[in-house]
Amino acid sequence: MSLAPYQPHCYFPLSFDYPSSQCSTLSGRPAVSAMSLWYLFSALVGGPGSVLISVLLLILSVRLWHKSRLWDLQCCSTDLTGKVAVVTGANSGIGKVVSQELARRGARVILACRSRERGQQALAEIQAASKDACILLGEVDLSSMASIRTFARWLLQEYPEIHLLVNNAAVCGFPKTLTPEGLEFTFATNYVGPFLLTNLLQGSLQRAESARVVNVTSFMQDCGYIDEEHLTGAGGPLTFNQNYYCSKLLLTSFTGELARRLQGTGVTVNCVEPGIVYTGIMKHFSWLYRFLFKLSSFFLKDPKQGAIPVLYLSLAKELNGVSGKYFNSSCVITLPPKAAQDPVVAQSLWNASVRLTNLDKTD
Ligand SMILES: NC(=O)c1ccc[n+]([C@@H]2O[C@H](COP(=O)([O-])OP(=O)(O)OC[C@H]3O[C@@H](n4cnc5c(N)ncnc54)[C@H](OP(=O)(O)O)[C@@H]3O)[C@@H](O)[C@H]2O)c1
Ligand SMILES: *[C@@H]1O[C@H](CO)[C@@H](O)[C@H](O)[C@H]1NC(C)=O
Ligand SMILES: *[C@@H]1O[C@H](CO)[C@@H](O)[C@H](O)[C@H]1NC(C)=O
Ligand SMILES: *[C@@H]1O[C@H](CO)[C@@H](O)[C@H](O)[C@H]1NC(C)=O
Repeated sequence: MSLAPYQPHCYFPLSFDYPSSQCSTLSGRPAVSAMSLWYLFSALVGGPGSVLISVLLLILSVRLWHKSRLWDLQCCSTDLTGKVAVVTGANSGIGKVVSQELARRGARVILACRSRERGQQALAEIQAASKDACILLGEVDLSSMASIRTFARWLLQEYPEIHLLVNNAAVCGFPKTLTPEGLEFTFATNYVGPFLLTNLLQGSLQRAESARVVNVTSFMQDCGYIDEEHLTGAGGPLTFNQNYYCSKLLLTSFTGELARRLQGTGVTVNCVEPGIVYTGIMKHFSWLYRFLFKLSSFFLKDPKQGAIPVLYLSLAKELNGVSGKYFNSSCVITLPPKAAQDPVVAQSLWNASVRLTNLDKTD
């Protein structure tokens, strides 16, 4: 497997396209951030999470430098008229921006959301932003395999061809919890659910003469490890929030496996990490973490910037036929963590996931 860094052809420094009314506030921001930093440090000296948070801060400042090099969405001419796209977790953050951009380019976009209310609100907002947008709401709870089966059945019936599936939905910040189906909640939402959905939709994906699957993973997967037992709430010990890191690693581990299985079908699968993006992703953390996240939001990407790597994998013409790859938040093909590169581990995980979702026993 040769993994020379892949250079997207549109590679310009990011231009901040803030409306001019907002530009004036930009100059005031550094002062605010210096103050925030001061508060941060004084609040954290000696605190139990201080090591984690110092590391986080370090990462944040490093990421800041990467922010200036992103793929230029505007110079990508891909038109999606007549195409069908499914985006999970489309009611907020990265998923909402991605859905809006896909709709703007003519795609029929299915917003796959677990809350009808939040989904409808996002739908109204996207519709207001682009009048001809063709979007509709699909209700699915990715932590429930029964819900995914119902959703997939409906999708397959309505859309014999699906050209793009973005597995974007995820949760983090939950302690170990079992779902009524006996799966661990975080792993179910972030990994097993997307595994089942992707597999159930294979018919429609393969009928579209070329289709893409994009998995949104996280750089925090570097702090995870692979243990199939985690899927059912057993397995090796997990530190704070490590269930999130591990679940993201599992999502990446499948890159090679699904890509191998779909070779020659015209369906490509890739995964990408968006970088650190200021979204609702921390909403289930304690107030302290949310507060710190908010304070550091100046250093972070906004959802528009965070959506760029995901849109790159969804739209860029130069990725036709590229499959099984992991892209970092600068849109460059990168080696995923070692554990996610092992094909035997990936196959074993695939087998375990098939058993847990009864994928072999039904349609
Ligand atoms: N933000 C970051 O810094 C960052 C960094 C690395 C990776 N990522 C990844 O980027 C992706 C998007 O996250 P985001 O930052 O945009 O966060 P977000 O705003 O919290 O979006 C997550 C979305 O997933 C949905 N979701 C959660 N559980 C679900 C379930 N069981 N069924 C259906 N939908 C569900 C949420 O719906 P509700 O509104 O109903 O909760 C929400 O719409 C995630 O995969 C995340 O892991 C984010
Ligand atoms: C995307 O995630 C699904 C579910 O985990 C998995 O089946 C598929 O192989 C993944 N694809 C990539 C490229 O990671
Ligand atoms: C992505 O990978 C490229 C090539 O290895 C590297 O230059 C770039 O800094 C990486 N970006 C991030 C955000 O890690
Ligand atoms: C996975 O299952 C297949 C078919 O049942 C089997 O041939 C293969 O050896 C299994 N792989 C692993 C690593 O368990």
